[in-house]
Amino acid sequence: MPDTLKQVVTVGVTGASGALLAQKALELLERDSRVARIHLVVTEAGQRLFAEELAIASGDLKQLPGRLLGRPTAKIELLPNKDIGASIASGSYAVDSMIVVPCSMGTLAAIASGVSDDLVSRAADVMLKENRKLVLCVRDTPFSRIHLENMVRAQQAGAVIMPAIPAFYHHPQTIDDLVTQYIFRVLAQINLRQENMYRWTGQPSAKKAEA
Ligand SMILES: Cc1cc2nc3c(=O)[nH]c(=O)nc-3n(C[C@H](O)[C@H](O)[C@H](O)COP(=O)(O)O)c2cc1C
Repeated sequence: MPDTLKQVVTVGVTGASGALLAQKALELLERDSRVARIHLVVTEAGQRLFAEELAIASGDLKQLPGRLLGRPTAKIELLPNKDIGASIASGSYAVDSMIVVPCSMGTLAAIASGVSDDLVSRAADVMLKENRKLVLCVRDTPFSRIHLENMVRAQQAGAVIMPAIPAFYHHPQTIDDLVTQYIFRVLAQINLRQENMYRWTGQPSAKKAEA
């Protein structure tokens, strides 16, 4: 596939629990031949979550993608969250889709209210104004009225609200099974269906009865 037909994806990582979800999304996107480029933006709180949950310290931020993948990668470009003049801050730069994984209630609020004072929220704002795919993997529990209203606002503006809620119908045996199936569903939202994704095909008991 020529590079011009491949996807450019932005991944925003914010300070909600679920650093593993971000790591899995980056792993799968990085090895996907349909993806040409990944722009990665990690908020300060997101960096803290990588340290807390995966013991991956940012150190020199440029080395974070390599640390997350366990090997160097040229496909992921890390952009500083403070750089509101980066490529992805403009609608004239072609990004096909953006995932915010995990998405904190703070960043959700910024996106829902159009406050674009950092690169994650500005890039998300651009996706909405340009009618491009934006998936918000929101995470907190329980949700307050404010969180829920912000989700409605973002969804009405065009975002997909994809709470970090795992499925159990594929009989997961490990945390990786839970995380992978969830991220498979997220990637399906941006037209990157994964061959190994479990697909429910109806209840076995109902099928037996039909036979
Ligand atoms: C260990 C830890 C876990 C957190 N988990 C969540 C969470 O699951 N959801 C959430 O909305 N905020 C969570 N927070 C709070 C956010 O990190 C905080 O509101 C932060 O300001 C969000 O900033 P950001 O949106 O710029 O990343 C957590 C903070 C820490 C330190």
